[in-house]
Amino acid sequence: MSWEGELTTVPLPDFPAGFRWGVSTSAYQIEGATGADGRGPSIWDTFAHEPGRIVDGSTGDEACDHYHRYAEDTALMAGLGVSAYRFSVAWPRVQPGGAGPADPDGLDFYDRLVDGLLDAGIDPVATLYHWDLPQPLEDAGGWLNRDTAARFAEYADLTAARLGDRVKLWITLNEPFIHMTLGYGIGTHAPGRMLLFDSFPVAHHQLLGHGLAVAALRARSISEVAIANNYSPVRLVGDTDADRAAARAYDALHNRLFTDPLLGRGYPDAPGLDPAVVRDGDLDVVAAPIDVLGVNYYNPTGIRAPEEGSPLPFEMVPLDGYPRTAFDWPVAPDGLRELLGQLHDRYGDALPPIQVTESGCAYDDAPDADGRVHDPERIAYLDGHVRAVHEAIGAGVPVTGYFVWSLLDNWEWAEGFTKRFGLVHVDYPTQRRTPKSSYAWFRDLIRR
Ligand code: FCB
Repeated sequence: MSWEGELTTVPLPDFPAGFRWGVSTSAYQIEGATGADGRGPSIWDTFAHEPGRIVDGSTGDEACDHYHRYAEDTALMAGLGVSAYRFSVAWPRVQPGGAGPADPDGLDFYDRLVDGLLDAGIDPVATLYHWDLPQPLEDAGGWLNRDTAARFAEYADLTAARLGDRVKLWITLNEPFIHMTLGYGIGTHAPGRMLLFDSFPVAHHQLLGHGLAVAALRARSISEVAIANNYSPVRLVGDTDADRAAARAYDALHNRLFTDPLLGRGYPDAPGLDPAVVRDGDLDVVAAPIDVLGVNYYNPTGIRAPEEGSPLPFEMVPLDGYPRTAFDWPVAPDGLRELLGQLHDRYGDALPPIQVTESGCAYDDAPDADGRVHDPERIAYLDGHVRAVHEAIGAGVPVTGYFVWSLLDNWEWAEGFTKRFGLVHVDYPTQRRTPKSSYAWFRDLIRR
């Protein structure tokens, strides 16, 4: 590939030896083959097939066809030189009905993937739950039902029994905050429920499931366990006491609701919190020690006091003065540095090493007349965020890895195929993969 570094005039700093450079994906967003080898339906199959749910009317039925093209995708990662690949295991492939014995055919796929990664010198990093709950479990109440936590631990055990000898880092849940708020709070994600603050049981049952899964993984001698949370540092818009109270409420909900109890602090005082669902002993289960805290960061959030009569204790406001991605998200690398510092200040010695498990941006990338995909905005985005991580390390925050979201353009949930996050462009009708210039940039960064 002919790409000459043209953007980065300031040389990138050196990172500590052993720093983990990786790329992330998730099962429903890339695999396709939703009916293959006995896979059962997930809440995302159901949701995506409901008219009006996905902006372009698409589904993940085919997505990037990674299920059949994983060898080509592994070769792309080998070319990139990443030391780790974060993928997710589809629960409905392992337990098509959400309970009972493992389906060996479903696990065979991950077995082949993991072996291929190891052959290519790439550490497999498996996320157990990236939002694709087996539909039968949703029919029984989904994450509102406490029993789903126990089912999740059982699934974690079955998966670790098969892959635990080779998968290095295990991530229990992806972004339980986003799953709760978009999936059960406002219904723009599967399962499409609109419970607003009555969705708190979904927070607690996911955390309980995480804690029970950690125990199941430890029983299988897994030594590296994590969770991947979404964080967004709050930017106060306004300076009244009411604005400050709104900012505190939002921060508690987005940044602390899942992390305080994980790190042994119990629940913060957050809107909607219902202590009745928290049983004796639960908080000890939730606070089982983890080895890595996964941090997914995209942007900060502007917050001010709500209007009279608002159902929310805060109002979200667009932040001025930043470039924006195709998702209209502000590009704010300083937010990542601030966030990493905040986590360090907030949790001190209780904070395990952090790995940035998702960082990336969507732009309307398209091939030029020569078929090359040039994405200077993504290079600028990643350059800024990598530097932010380096500065945080310099300030004493223990950060040991950085994963770009995402390896490939893929099916972006409610946005369907309209948002491209990949280092590699995917032409969906032909499934042709074309590395973008950001791929070459990231390869060169890792190589140094
Ligand atoms: C995160 C999700 C990931 C992807 C990125 C853009 O919230 O974990 O699957 O959708 O956003």
